[in-house]
Amino acid sequence: MKALVLSGGAGTRLRPITHTSAKQLVPVANKAVLFYGLESIAAAGVTEVGVIVGDTAAEIREAVGDGSRFGLDITYIPQDRPLGLAHAVIVARDFLGEDDFVMYLGDNFIVGGITDLVDEFRRTRPDAQILLTRVPDPRAFGVAELDPAGQVVGLEEKPAHPKSDLALVGVYLFTSAIHDAVRAIEPSRRGELEITDAVQRLIDTGARVRSTIIKGYWKDTGNVVDMLEVNRTVLEGVERRIDGEVDEASETVGRVVVEAGARVVNSRLVGPVVLGAGSEVRDSYIGPFTSVGENCRITDSELEFSIVLRDSSIDGVGRIENSLIGRHVEVTPAAGVSRAHRLVLGDHSKVQIHT
Ligand code: G1P
Repeated sequence: MKALVLSGGAGTRLRPITHTSAKQLVPVANKAVLFYGLESIAAAGVTEVGVIVGDTAAEIREAVGDGSRFGLDITYIPQDRPLGLAHAVIVARDFLGEDDFVMYLGDNFIVGGITDLVDEFRRTRPDAQILLTRVPDPRAFGVAELDPAGQVVGLEEKPAHPKSDLALVGVYLFTSAIHDAVRAIEPSRRGELEITDAVQRLIDTGARVRSTIIKGYWKDTGNVVDMLEVNRTVLEGVERRIDGEVDEASETVGRVVVEAGARVVNSRLVGPVVLGAGSEVRDSYIGPFTSVGENCRITDSELEFSIVLRDSSIDGVGRIENSLIGRHVEVTPAAGVSRAHRLVLGDHSKVQIHT
């Protein structure tokens, strides 16, 4: 069995972070979303992995390398344009050969991994197996309709009027039967070859498509709210570990990770919190569900329920909450008596100012 990991895509809903960085590399508890997926694949006993890459290929290659650090053997497969998930399967045809494979969307986050699922597929070996989960608003996803016996009878991609609340999770198990199906479908309204349509095609041609409803935690980390929520969930599981320096005047409460080379001076950290290597927190408060990347400076400020990427600084600005802050960002108070805000924001930035 092989794995096909999709790491292309533009990440429009995570702009401006994704103007300069692949969405699959945005960190959750200071580790790239994509790495959690690669670890689950390795844990399920699959080692031959094809990674589909697009515009952000260089950055993904740099971060993931040859895969040996995950115990994986990785082949990069370029997809010239993001023409859809089924198109990615077409592009990966030579790599996949006639093998069964698990297809994993690199921005999806599944707590509990995929080992049970892969084992079940190996045991029952349907032509395809999809994963479903109940969501409050299914219109942003592929949606499945099941008959009373629990058999999938229909699938629709991002329907305006969903027939159920069962969304397709971004992990699929396929036999080589999928290759004819991805070639038989037409582009959707959004101009993409949808894997949802390819699976529907399997159903229409009498193939056996099984579905599993997952009860565990799943999120597509495509937007900031979901990203912060995934970060919260992962941080809830961290163990307290203080490898860096915490001075006498500081207090760390609960599940706090201070990486080696990080410093906490005259500050209060209330976990779960992770503070990356080389970062410094001084005269500040960092509250629950916050991860701060490597080489950041947080001074005379309060930070809660947020993600700060590496090499950024926040200095003397009061309280920041519910925020996703990119790399090399500087947040400082404006000089002078004027109460004006002074902003230098990249394209597609989103700022909420308290007035
Ligand atoms: C894709 C699939 C969709 C699925 C979702 C899960 O959507 O097309 O069926 O529910 O992933 O993350 P996209 O991320 O391309 O909008």
